[in-house]
Amino acid sequence: MALWGGRFAQGPAESVAALSRSVHFDWRLAPYDIRVNIAHLHGLTKSGVVSASDAQTIEGALVSLAADVQSGTFTFNDSDEDVHSAIERGLVAKIGPLGGAIRAGRSRNDLVVTDFKLYIIDHLLTVSNLVTQLIAALNAQAERHAGSIAPGFTHLQHAQPILFGHELAKHSQALLRDVDRISDWLERHSFSPLGAGALAGSGLQPSPEASAEELGFIGSLANSIDAVSDRDFIAEALFALSMIGIHLSRLGEEFTLWSTTEFGWVTVADEYSTGSSIMPQKKNPDIAELARGKAGRLVGNLTSVMVMLKGLPFAYNRDLQEDKEPVFDSMETLLLLLPAVTGMVATATFHPEIMQQGATAGFSLATEVADFLARKGVPFATAHEVAGACVKKCESAGIDLHELSDADFQAIHPGLTPEIRGVLTAEGAIASRTSSLGTSEQSVREQIAIAESENVLAQAWISSEQKRFSGMMSL
Ligand code: ARG
Repeated sequence: MALWGGRFAQGPAESVAALSRSVHFDWRLAPYDIRVNIAHLHGLTKSGVVSASDAQTIEGALVSLAADVQSGTFTFNDSDEDVHSAIERGLVAKIGPLGGAIRAGRSRNDLVVTDFKLYIIDHLLTVSNLVTQLIAALNAQAERHAGSIAPGFTHLQHAQPILFGHELAKHSQALLRDVDRISDWLERHSFSPLGAGALAGSGLQPSPEASAEELGFIGSLANSIDAVSDRDFIAEALFALSMIGIHLSRLGEEFTLWSTTEFGWVTVADEYSTGSSIMPQKKNPDIAELARGKAGRLVGNLTSVMVMLKGLPFAYNRDLQEDKEPVFDSMETLLLLLPAVTGMVATATFHPEIMQQGATAGFSLATEVADFLARKGVPFATAHEVAGACVKKCESAGIDLHELSDADFQAIHPGLTPEIRGVLTAEGAIASRTSSLGTSEQSVREQIAIAESENVLAQAWISSEQKRFSGMMSL
């Protein structure tokens, strides 16, 4: 059903109808559209534009339409332009022309953006919840490996020994920031555009604030032109989703690398691996690779909306219809990806005995030599030179740092007394990194415990928001 047509002698050409149609993707907004229509109806009833008895009829029909949408007995058809047209068709089918009363004082311009905000709030909460489940899986593995020694890399070259729990728990920090970003988003964007009408507001809807609160928003946006133009909330949501995707891709890259024969640090469980159609021996880390690969489309979705918005005049322009598919795609991508990555992390078996073998390779204890001298008051730049000289000597002799003799050390620098041997082990080096963010076992255990308690708080916040929100959405 078209919501316009009075001034046209002819309907749109087939190609135009096909191009302008959005119902096949914006149908996802149907439950939110009905809820927004009910909040709007309450405003129209207060202002007397719709009588109390008509309002009762309309609301009853909308509630039953919501059930029909949910059960699938009502859906869109070929004649519907968008979700708003389809819902109005459904309403009119139930109660006749009275259904059209709902359109007073609002436009699809404020309706679409209100519906979409509610969709995004709902789905951001679901995504956040899945992110916290991944954090919990990472923390549990990090805890299990809080004492496992591994090489730490910079430039993918051996750098300094670390604890593997420290390595795993760094991902929890990044993902906690992602949840925090979503909570910021909610604080900044929980304002309703409803009541903006086409762009100028309306006198038929006296209390947009009341409708806003009924829908769970903090209040109404301040300016009706801004209200129908603002898509910052979409760009920011897509950024938050892209950042999650990027974090998953970096995690995916590590699992891919760690599962190679050359590394052999992790065995991915069979349920989270795939095989090859030609090479019977193959077990591939496809989940980790998909985590790496999906980031591309998430960033692409953000980019497509940013470019669409650039230079766009304010108020509604049809370009804005292009804001939806990228969001649906990003949300649905993460809803698929997150549970699989969580499962892969939770079921992975790590091999600390193999990691440990490489912990002191590549002269990764050279910094300990420099720190040893710095503790004795040697300026660090000098200490750094001296440690470099030790590495040079080892390289030419084909030995490791701990294989230098006491005399070799003395010849390089008088400060290199035999106690140096105390820091020339991975255990000693790790134990000395006692700063709160460092890799000593106590620091790592504390970091994990704090991350876990932050995660539990985040989960409590999400479930209280979800309860509040589903209360608002229930009819
Ligand atoms: N389907 C449109 C969209 O998604 C709804 C708003 C249409 N408004 C208009 N004035 N044509 O943006």
